[in-house]
Amino acid sequence: MAFSLLPSSLLVAAFMFSTLTLLLSLDGVRAQQTGITRHYRFDIRMANVTRLCHTKSIVTVNGQFPGPKIVAREGDRVVVKVVNHVQYNVTLHWHGVRQLRSGWADGPAYVTQCPIGRGQSYVYNFTIVAQRGTLFWHAHISWLRATLYGPIIILPARGVPYPFSKPYKEVPIVFGEWWNADTEAVISQALQTGGGPNVSDAYTINGLPGPLYNCSAKDTFKLKVKPGKTYLLRMINAALNDELFFSIANHTLTIVDVDAVYVKPFDTDTLIIAPGQTTNVLLRSKPSFPHATFLMAARPYATGSGTFDNSTVAGFLEYQDPKTSSTASFDKKLPLFKPSLPSLNDTAFVANFTSRLRSLATAQFPAKVPRTVERQFFFTVGLGTSPCPKNQTCQGPNGTKFAATVSNISFAMPTTALLQAHFFGQSKRVYSPDFPYSPLIPFNYTGSPPNNTLVSNGTKLMVLPYNTTVELVMQDTSILGAESHPLHLHGFNFFVVGQGFGNYNPAKDPARFNLVDPVERNTVGVPAGGWVAIRFRADNPGVWFMHCHLEVHTSWGLKMAWLVLDGSLPNQKLPPPPSDLPRC
Ligand code: C2O
Repeated sequence: MAFSLLPSSLLVAAFMFSTLTLLLSLDGVRAQQTGITRHYRFDIRMANVTRLCHTKSIVTVNGQFPGPKIVAREGDRVVVKVVNHVQYNVTLHWHGVRQLRSGWADGPAYVTQCPIGRGQSYVYNFTIVAQRGTLFWHAHISWLRATLYGPIIILPARGVPYPFSKPYKEVPIVFGEWWNADTEAVISQALQTGGGPNVSDAYTINGLPGPLYNCSAKDTFKLKVKPGKTYLLRMINAALNDELFFSIANHTLTIVDVDAVYVKPFDTDTLIIAPGQTTNVLLRSKPSFPHATFLMAARPYATGSGTFDNSTVAGFLEYQDPKTSSTASFDKKLPLFKPSLPSLNDTAFVANFTSRLRSLATAQFPAKVPRTVERQFFFTVGLGTSPCPKNQTCQGPNGTKFAATVSNISFAMPTTALLQAHFFGQSKRVYSPDFPYSPLIPFNYTGSPPNNTLVSNGTKLMVLPYNTTVELVMQDTSILGAESHPLHLHGFNFFVVGQGFGNYNPAKDPARFNLVDPVERNTVGVPAGGWVAIRFRADNPGVWFMHCHLEVHTSWGLKMAWLVLDGSLPNQKLPPPPSDLPRC
């Protein structure tokens, strides 16, 4: 008895210790999940869809176009089983979801995972922490997001109200592009010839081009409202290559949330939304039946010198006449009011609109702006050229091929995933950890462009220790024309502390930075011929892609990645990959 006491108590102690560590580590993983788990199954399959009298076979989720919506509350875990039945390699990205310590579920191909091949499946598993509003999911390989996209609706935790009056109804408004051509063929041909790719045939609202296109009147989005109510429109720009202005005739919109972060509400007739951005707005319907129908319309904001789809998508805002039955209540013969939209290159409107966006910055929803920063970076973003291969003629500028860069480095995609290479200590042949702090050859970025427009190529990452506070200034260049670039950072929200036109001046501009209530988001427009300054805390270990959300620029290389190292505590480390992570 006596001799067994010691070993057994040791055994008990050891058992208790291991149970405790198990509980602690499970706790670390689950600590942030305060809600329920929601399961989705996404079958990637082809479906025939007709728009503009043109039928084509497109890649879809579950045969739906646009794709199904994901609904979750803040604090919920989302588990999406993706099964690929098509000939294309696929990955899905949950755009704007912070993916705290769940980088394996982020989705950009060859960054956090290898693609899901035909017949394969992968389970994306992540928790939504401290975000509320609208985000979206989309394919993150080549140009498949042209048809593979859908909303992510994030409601407040149960019992927590919105910081604005409760809407009567919520409606997603998803902008996309419709292409009669096969977008995979469009981009592969453009990359071959080096020229600018073709442009889309129409813009869409919830997949519908609307009445301003040929053979399209029956494919028109209609928002049917009752008088005297408040509607929450959850707007998403899922277009491939175009920022969009949006307006509804004779109605004012109140902006309340962007990129799943509340903002100080403000009223506007027109808004601008870049690809990768989301905007929640309140629409108050007229107090009584207006005996009219109102057009809502969106058309592009374009600053580049290339061609773009300059068409207009429209839908109807229709009022239900309270005096008639619900089916006959939408009278077609009412007068139609049309909105006026800014001109296609109205940079002044964009600068004014974006300067009005401010974080709510209340005790309940504070703006946790880093007051001081440990690392400062200055990156240029813009276009350039690469030489035409021998024995080929190219259709880019002066017979070259178009390229696009961050700090004149056109990012070369690896053939294996960066995060896997990092995690398993096999980075040597895959990437180099030496992305420059600032351009190696400074020049007058927004002055007359240099004669040499050649870019360099590389797979370079910027390495950050865990929890580093970062300031990044992104400067547009005038090489091949100044152009607005909506830059998207994976894995983080950042604060937009400053922006301006011309060259960033490190001696003068920081004095005007807003460190009190800057807007917090995941995608920000670098102004055409200007700069933007952002701050964030690198509190999420993993490899995080950053790129222009104009897909053509991403294809040309306007992308790079950050490597955020593990911290020392267990809950500051990236867990190992799930066992079904696709390999390549
Ligand atoms: Cu919505 Cu890396 O993108």
